[in-house]
Amino acid sequence: MLTGTGTATDAVQLTAVRKVYGRRGNEVVALDDVTTQFGRGTFTAIMGPSGSGKSTLLQCAAGLDQPTSGSVVLEDSELSTMSETELTELRRDRVGFIFQAFNLLPVLTVEQNVTLPLRLAGRSPAKGRVANVLEQVGLRERRKHRPAELSGGQQQRVAIARALITEPAVIFADEPTGALDTRTARDVLGLLRRSVQETGQTIVMVTHDPVAASYADRVLFLADGRVVGELRSPTADAVAERMTHLGAYADEAPQARSTTAGGQR
Ligand SMILES: Nc1ncnc2c1ncn2[C@@H]1O[C@H](COP(=O)(O)OP(=O)(O)OP(=O)(O)O)[C@@H](O)[C@H]1O
Ligand SMILES: [Mg+2]
Repeated sequence: MLTGTGTATDAVQLTAVRKVYGRRGNEVVALDDVTTQFGRGTFTAIMGPSGSGKSTLLQCAAGLDQPTSGSVVLEDSELSTMSETELTELRRDRVGFIFQAFNLLPVLTVEQNVTLPLRLAGRSPAKGRVANVLEQVGLRERRKHRPAELSGGQQQRVAIARALITEPAVIFADEPTGALDTRTARDVLGLLRRSVQETGQTIVMVTHDPVAASYADRVLFLADGRVVGELRSPTADAVAERMTHLGAYADEAPQARSTTAGGQR
């Protein structure tokens, strides 16, 4: 059954989503009338200046946070009508997360970390499936190792495998390459890209890096809690140019500009 304005081709549909933090007189409007959708099997990057609402958007779309108003439909479920228990199940079974800090459990092996979401859901992981996912992220040989024995990039690949294992409707990633060096970051981005291409995974990724965004099919730009633009088939240069216009780079830029302007007068 379809509810709200979601369509069969959308993994997630947000309609007029507003999120206000704080109380009257001390309010922060983190999201202001955001309407957008993430198509099934697509890879979307979300960019915007610090504080523009990127993480809030991800949290509302993933059922981790409740919008003040508006609607979020994930596949066929309207999140605002769901109970806390239903939301917990939705987050566990239908959503995957990847964070900047890999959030692996140090005492568990690679394989145990990857299968944890299934075991928490009371499902026993199919042997072939685990091997498959570990193969996909290139860590089959390291399955008995613990996170501390792996490089940062390998640890993030474990986190990706853990997100992929349940075949979620969407994987939400908040700056997944933020803690990685450039080369390792490219490996991880290539892996995310392939999971979209080869298995039709849907991914929504927040990033500050135009090169990372160029791995996506589409970039959504936020500023002050609003969607202010969009780029399809983005190149890193095109993304960087948009970001410069949004004033996302160099905190000193506005000041520098006004100093220059003052000097010219
Ligand atoms: N729990 C909260 N309570 C109050 N204000 C909050 C809360 N979470 C976020 N905000 C505010 O909402 C706005 C959007 O925050 P958000 O974390 O979504 O930004 P962001 O785009 O992810 O920024 P960054 O790039 O720095 O991670 C900011 O002004 C922030 O201070
Ligand atoms: Mg953030």
